[in-house]
Amino acid sequence: MSTRLKLISAQPAQAVEPEAVLEVQGLSKIFRVNQTTFHALENIRFQAGTGELICVLGPSGCGKTTLLKILSGFIPPSAGQITLNGLPVFRPGPDRCVVFQEDALFPWLTVAENIAFGLKGRGLGTRSVRQETERFLSLVNLEAFRNYLPREISGGMKQRVALARVLILNPKVLLMDEPFAALDAQTREEMQTFLLTLWKKLSHTILFVTHDVTEAVTLADRILVMDKNPGRIRHDIAVPLKRPRMRESSAFHHQCKHLYALLRTETAG
Ligand SMILES: Nc1ncnc2c1ncn2[C@@H]1O[C@H](COP(=O)(O)OP(=O)(O)O)[C@@H](O)[C@H]1O
Ligand SMILES: [Mg+2]
Repeated sequence: MSTRLKLISAQPAQAVEPEAVLEVQGLSKIFRVNQTTFHALENIRFQAGTGELICVLGPSGCGKTTLLKILSGFIPPSAGQITLNGLPVFRPGPDRCVVFQEDALFPWLTVAENIAFGLKGRGLGTRSVRQETERFLSLVNLEAFRNYLPREISGGMKQRVALARVLILNPKVLLMDEPFAALDAQTREEMQTFLLTLWKKLSHTILFVTHDVTEAVTLADRILVMDKNPGRIRHDIAVPLKRPRMRESSAFHHQCKHLYALLRTETAG
């Protein structure tokens, strides 16, 4: 081997940046209420790579829901640009699906019918719809509950149905707005583990909003730390912990402590 080749091969492998799927630039949102203006979001910019799991962490009122509503196309920004795979985002579309804190299931439809609902109008035959519904019922471990109504299943199960009914649409980006915040602590942990298992299987790009530091450190590849009045991204932090992450480990505690310190500085500043 020549010296030159030896030198090249001795170099450390370069980390491969994931290709940007979602790009947000200079995004601001001003609300006008009773002739006063309120800067809910100011100059938000970030990129999300294909298959990345990004948590948006910040105190109540810092604009997390507003940001997700803009990204999903439900409300327009006051300024700025969003592109998905290079194409501008203006309105809601099946390429960006949202899961909210409170499940938005149709109470009169069964678990299976709720999961299949979004496929209607997509020109799929009855057989394909049935096959896809079965696949997603199995992915969220709810085959045995297919004929139950939402009021007959637990909160965690409802959120699994909510996840299945958007994942079946194969979105490019999954937007999640504090989806586990209303669940009890144990179910919330189970759902976090469950989401990570699903993510490993399906590799979606996920933007997960939370105000819970432990949740963010459990889930995220990267954490965008927000500040309020106006809502801004103050830090973009990579979480270097290997998966599965051990909450009891000192590395996990260290990461949480670091984030608490950042959040305290933001609120105080
Ligand atoms: N439609 C609206 N009109 C006026 N103010 C709003 C509206 N929606 C949200 N806000 C304000 O914007 C700020 C951010 O709200 P929100 O995005 O819900 O924060 P978060 O989800 O981080 O708790 C809050 O102060 C809220 O009162
Ligand atoms: Mg919110």
